[in-house]
Amino acid sequence: MKCIFFLSLLTLGIFVQCGDCGHTWLPFNIIDAVQNKTIQIKNFVKDKGRSLRDFYVENVQNRIKTYVGYSKNQTEKIVDIITEKTDILVEKFDRYLTEAEVSGNQLFDAVAPQNVKYTCSNDDPAIHMSTPQLIASHGYAAESHTFVTDDGYILTLHRIPYPKSNLNRLIPTKTVLLHHGLLGSSADWVLAGPEKGLAYILSNAGYDVWLANVRGNTYSRAHVSKDPDSFAFWNFTWHEVSQHDLPAVIGHIIKIKGPDVKINYVGHSMGTTILFALLSTKTEYNNILRAGFALAPVAYMTDIESPIRLLARYANNIEYLMKLLGANEFLPQNSVLRWLSKHACEINHYEEAICENSLFVLCGHDEQQFNRSLLPIILGHVPAGASTKSLVHYAQEIRNKGNFQKFDYGPKGNMEHYGTTIPPEYPLHKITLPIALFSAKNDWLSGEVDVSNLYRQLVNPIEHYIVPLKTFNHVDFLWAIDAPILVYNRLLELMEQGTSKSLFNGDIDSNHIR
Ligand SMILES: *[C@@H]1O[C@H](CO)[C@@H](O)[C@H](O)[C@H]1NC(C)=O
Ligand SMILES: *[C@@H]1O[C@H](CO)[C@@H](O)[C@H](O)[C@H]1NC(C)=O
Ligand SMILES: *[C@@H]1O[C@H](CO)[C@@H](O)[C@H](O)[C@H]1NC(C)=O
Ligand SMILES: *[C@@H]1O[C@H](CO)[C@@H](O)[C@H](O)[C@H]1NC(C)=O
Repeated sequence: MKCIFFLSLLTLGIFVQCGDCGHTWLPFNIIDAVQNKTIQIKNFVKDKGRSLRDFYVENVQNRIKTYVGYSKNQTEKIVDIITEKTDILVEKFDRYLTEAEVSGNQLFDAVAPQNVKYTCSNDDPAIHMSTPQLIASHGYAAESHTFVTDDGYILTLHRIPYPKSNLNRLIPTKTVLLHHGLLGSSADWVLAGPEKGLAYILSNAGYDVWLANVRGNTYSRAHVSKDPDSFAFWNFTWHEVSQHDLPAVIGHIIKIKGPDVKINYVGHSMGTTILFALLSTKTEYNNILRAGFALAPVAYMTDIESPIRLLARYANNIEYLMKLLGANEFLPQNSVLRWLSKHACEINHYEEAICENSLFVLCGHDEQQFNRSLLPIILGHVPAGASTKSLVHYAQEIRNKGNFQKFDYGPKGNMEHYGTTIPPEYPLHKITLPIALFSAKNDWLSGEVDVSNLYRQLVNPIEHYIVPLKTFNHVDFLWAIDAPILVYNRLLELMEQGTSKSLFNGDIDSNHIR
């Protein structure tokens, strides 16, 4: 049985593959250990019926995590895992990275599985549908709007203008703009279908729903003069997105709905980063939007468990990173991404290790919140495209103590761009828009410490909502089976009632056009 297991990524590019992948991505002793443990897992489940997950976490996941050096808690790390072996492994891995640096990307290519075969069934026509087609296929009205940013990128904005039940086709005054994360697209919000997808839920609740697409993704892959295959096209980070794309998107909605429109902004992951970058630099947008709702917010990055951390050590060597990752688009086929995918989220280790080694376990268990029937359609739409430079920008933050700061061009370049040798931080204290943060305990990209710090910086905080499920992760905000109950209900409440039930005592505008 083959299957490629890809759990979202989005945001910071996380992918998982399994099936015909080779085993060359880890040293043999680890492979042995995983293989041995997989057999043990099978027997264990058969014989004792103990929770597979617990057993896995103890015996496989912790081992790999330690090996790659992710454990947050050094004490735990030493105690949990066979001690001296661990140190040797970590050391080995470090050496491995150094060798990779010396020899260019060849070593990384060697670790990543070659010739990954995507073998998921593709009977479902939805896999190939565009966002508006998907929306229309569920009986909702769908629109596509195209416009140009002030720096020449041609963007597409999708829209569900009125609820399905709205037979008179009157466009609601309540307005919401949804912004996807890194490698995502407007499709992220509709892939889960009309029962679970946030775009539909908001439409049903009487919102005019707009779905943004960032420059470079499937729907916004064009420029008035730059070739999408050139470096000039991909020479941007999320900073440029915040400065040019977001104003163009908001400007377009205002053009269609009039200057009094009250736009609620809902972002996921990088979709929140660009909001914070916009509001702290072009401060007039604090008065243009109605309120911000940040799902899995990413601004500070001290508390990152994602393997993106591995890139941080190269963040001051942009040339090398570009070589490693591809200078232009951060491609899904990229060997480093494949390598990262192997070490992505804990659930991915789990799936990966198990499914590479054991057919029995492959489809016999399930993670709590992941709906396996969505896998083919997710694979069909994600990743939708992102620039390598955006990833580098995040890696720089991690290297620079997790600061939320502008792109680092090196002392000379910084002098030219910013007039200082070090890149300035985004002045978060200038954000006055009422903002609610939604975070989760098992989110490797949006850590508790960082989100709490961010929340403390907000001048008009609405609420910091922590999803009441310990295993909830970064991508669960989009596709979790219980996302409507665990997240969207509260989101809607906060959007609807303004903030009457929250700690926020400031003023929030009416949701409707005055
Ligand atoms: C895996 O099992 C084989 C055979 O039982 C054994 O020789 C080997 O040492 C084991 N490897 C590890 C890392 O435990
Ligand atoms: C690390 O883990 C150990 C053992 O589980 C625990 O006693 C200790 O308090 C933890 N330290 C931190 C800083 O969380
Ligand atoms: C890439 O963008 C930076 C920052 O805007 C600019 O300084 C640089 O000249 C650009 N390089 C190319 C080749 O377009
Ligand atoms: C999983 O996704 C499928 C396809 O969208 C849907 O029909 C089904 O209801 C979902 N299952 C759960 C438990 O959400």
